[in-house]
Amino acid sequence: MNALILAGGFGTRLRPLSCTRPKMMFPLANRPLLDWILESLAQKGVTKVVLAVNYMADILKKNFASLKHGIKIVYSYERKPLGTGGPIKNAERFLNKDGNPFFMLNGDILSSINYSNLYDAHRATKAEATIALREVEDPSRFGVVELNGKNQIQNFVEKPNEGQLQSKLINAGVYALNQSIFSLIPNGRKISIEREIFPKLVKNRSLFGYKFDGFWIDSGKPNDYITANKLVLDRIACSEPFLEKEIGISSKAKIIPPVAIGSNTIIGDDSQIGPYSSIGDNVTIAKGTNVMNSVVFPKAWIDRFTSINGAIIGEGAIIGQWVKIEDQCIVGDHAVIGDNVTLTQKVQICPRKELNNSVLQPATIM
Ligand code: GTP
Repeated sequence: MNALILAGGFGTRLRPLSCTRPKMMFPLANRPLLDWILESLAQKGVTKVVLAVNYMADILKKNFASLKHGIKIVYSYERKPLGTGGPIKNAERFLNKDGNPFFMLNGDILSSINYSNLYDAHRATKAEATIALREVEDPSRFGVVELNGKNQIQNFVEKPNEGQLQSKLINAGVYALNQSIFSLIPNGRKISIEREIFPKLVKNRSLFGYKFDGFWIDSGKPNDYITANKLVLDRIACSEPFLEKEIGISSKAKIIPPVAIGSNTIIGDDSQIGPYSSIGDNVTIAKGTNVMNSVVFPKAWIDRFTSINGAIIGEGAIIGQWVKIEDQCIVGDHAVIGDNVTLTQKVQICPRKELNNSVLQPATIM
């Protein structure tokens, strides 16, 4: 089986960290998102993945090359962004070799979808396209579908207005597509599969849904990314912290699982890590510092008596002593946060910025 992964988005909602790496390189429990996705595809028999790339493609290629988890990886380059539909046509030559349906995935989705069951459901209904569907409480920011009793999609509305649809079933960003999809997509221009292709398939009754339960998260926004990290930690770590070798954790530090701690990372006396934190490789955390519900990228340096809760700290960032960083704040790569600074909510610090004053409301600091 083959799969196409959309991996070319700019990831603007995860700026400034997405200014220096594509979204699929964001770590979850210290492994890139793409690594988790490839592993789950490999477990269900996918043998070839086409990565549809443009933005920062070289970083993906450098890290994943052409083989991972037994999956052959092929890169389909776009000279300009082609949206969520154009990349399908652009990758046709890599996907039409065996004539079989293939999967397509948004690259920022992490889920426990059983791809084999999705494939079987797609085959059974003779659909042209099948969308994996997930029920959520608030469907307003997603594509919402209405199904009939045969799982045929009657209506597909992208980001509906309040009351427009009764359904809470949303497009989970994972699809099984027939080869015939290529003939519906024009060459060389930006296309939205949700807005331009799915409505056509609804009209000719060839769009079906596959409902699934379990693990699903779109990690495209800071709070969702932190939640995705949390869900992954819950799945892998159970009651033991997930620790790489060669870590220098003080015997006086308190590690509260689930957490992931990378190689060569130092944790000082009386610090408390976790629950729900991922600390990358080569990080230094000094004495008396707390890090919970957060992601710390590699090579960050966090000084004494600092508290980090619900935040993302970029690669090589330097955080001073007695600092407080909270709720969805993002510190860009190599930024420097001075002693005693407090960042309360949704503050984004640009890469390499030096900040010595507190910011107590949402802001982007350039
Ligand atoms: P935001 O800018 O934060 O909305 O993120 P995004 O650019 O990634 O957009 P969005 O989350 O809507 O994209 C959903 C999926 O489609 C992600 O996996 C993106 O990488 C991917 N994607 C979006 N636009 C393109 C594109 O033009 N080309 C390719 N190949 N993938 C894309």
